[in-house]
Amino acid sequence: MGSGGWVGGCQRIASPRQACLTFQAPRGLTPAKREKDLSKMASESGKLWGGRFVGSIDPIMEKFNSSISYDQRMWEADIQGSKAYSKGLENAGLLTKAELEKILHGLDKVAEEWAKGTFALNPHDEDIHTANERRLKELIGEAAGKLHTGRSRNDQVVTDLRLWMRKSCSTLSAHLKMLITTMVERAEAEKDVLFPGYTHLQRAQPIRWSHWILSHAVALARDLERLLEVRRRVDVLPLGSGAIAGNPLGVDRKLLQKELNFSAITLNSMDATSERDFVAEFLFWASLCMTHLSKMAEDLIIYGTKEFSFVQLSDAYSTGSSLMPQKKNPDSLELIRSKAGRVFGRCAGLLMTLKGLPSTYNKDLQEDKEAVFEVSDTMNSVLQVATGMISTMKINKACMENALSPDMLATDLAYYLVRKGMPFRQAHEASGKAVFMAETKQLSLSQLPVKELQSISPLFSSDVCQVWNYANSVEQYKALGGTAKSSVEWQIQQLRELLQRHQE
Ligand code: ARG
Repeated sequence: MGSGGWVGGCQRIASPRQACLTFQAPRGLTPAKREKDLSKMASESGKLWGGRFVGSIDPIMEKFNSSISYDQRMWEADIQGSKAYSKGLENAGLLTKAELEKILHGLDKVAEEWAKGTFALNPHDEDIHTANERRLKELIGEAAGKLHTGRSRNDQVVTDLRLWMRKSCSTLSAHLKMLITTMVERAEAEKDVLFPGYTHLQRAQPIRWSHWILSHAVALARDLERLLEVRRRVDVLPLGSGAIAGNPLGVDRKLLQKELNFSAITLNSMDATSERDFVAEFLFWASLCMTHLSKMAEDLIIYGTKEFSFVQLSDAYSTGSSLMPQKKNPDSLELIRSKAGRVFGRCAGLLMTLKGLPSTYNKDLQEDKEAVFEVSDTMNSVLQVATGMISTMKINKACMENALSPDMLATDLAYYLVRKGMPFRQAHEASGKAVFMAETKQLSLSQLPVKELQSISPLFSSDVCQVWNYANSVEQYKALGGTAKSSVEWQIQQLRELLQRHQE
């Protein structure tokens, strides 16, 4: 018997524990008997790829290799893909009409079992593809063996994943649209509320509260457009690429495309079975979206402290302390903030997995699905919680407006001089002097008498009192994108149009 020149290596041992203790095959087992037992086990295990294998698999390895515990979530996509593929086989003359009907009917039955929760997993089901085919064979017999003709799990798994993600992207974009809509509505309703805008977390300039809401909504609007772009690149059919080289049996990929309603067909079978760009893009989309949401959450956590008291979360999105009765914690916001780390970790993890892989399919790629599922689930709940939290949160207009202080109008004081013809650099310096003067005199900027201001610049006159008005201040910023009411309304309009465009 040709062993191909390979020597050494002990027979597979019964358990890892035994391996540590003895490094010997179990006693009472002659090599010949053991070989016989192992090949018996291999054929009994019902492995779909068992033909070449004579030994059985180490139970730990079997578990290690298996993806059924999580990829069963793709059962529906797998059935969908198999139904389309069997039609492709029939079209190519590889299945009779009767065989096709039998397979389609059988696949519907398998789907029914999954839908009802009665699908019984076999301990040797490695993944969703082998599990469905195994069950199909039990239900319809040998005809099931024709389904995989010319197909590989390499093109099957990536087809399933794309089908699954296409649906998930649609669900997530609906949630994202809902969140943006909620924010836009809130911005519309509260556009007369003013409060401090911060840079470096220091009071900077008065702004409209709606301007703050919209600053986050526009980031999410970019995320929406990005997600729809990702979905477009997910929506490409890889089926018919086989294991690596393509399909040799005349299966019409255009027929498969039509059956599965994909917008495009992958160009190269080697690339199609191994590229996971669409997964990386999806995980990056989620990472960036979470980055945006975590920043918004952080702002709101700060604004919700007693020290700020600008906002108050509804009880539905907060929790109490088990020790301190007075506390109401912004757990929804903190969890949104923290999930950003988890999502980004999945993105970085996948990129590390992809880096340096040889062409084409490698088992490493099995790891893509847990990342996709976990990130989809996380995004699903984060987007819905964020929507609920934003729509039920209360604001305290008085606290917001009381937090405005005349020093925040120092820039306006400079603009006052600019409007009287002074170059901005000089005006900036003059206003700075006024701030210093007010500080030394322990007055607020607006309390400085005109006469004192005139000692800094003769351009100051009694009309300077108009500077000390927060509503006037925000109204200056009329240029598109600014915090004046007209500009805030323009932003709202732009976002509504964007949402409308994506309302398929
Ligand atoms: N469970 C595998 C995965 O998720 C399916 C593809 C297996 N292909 C193979 N050549 N072993 O990637």
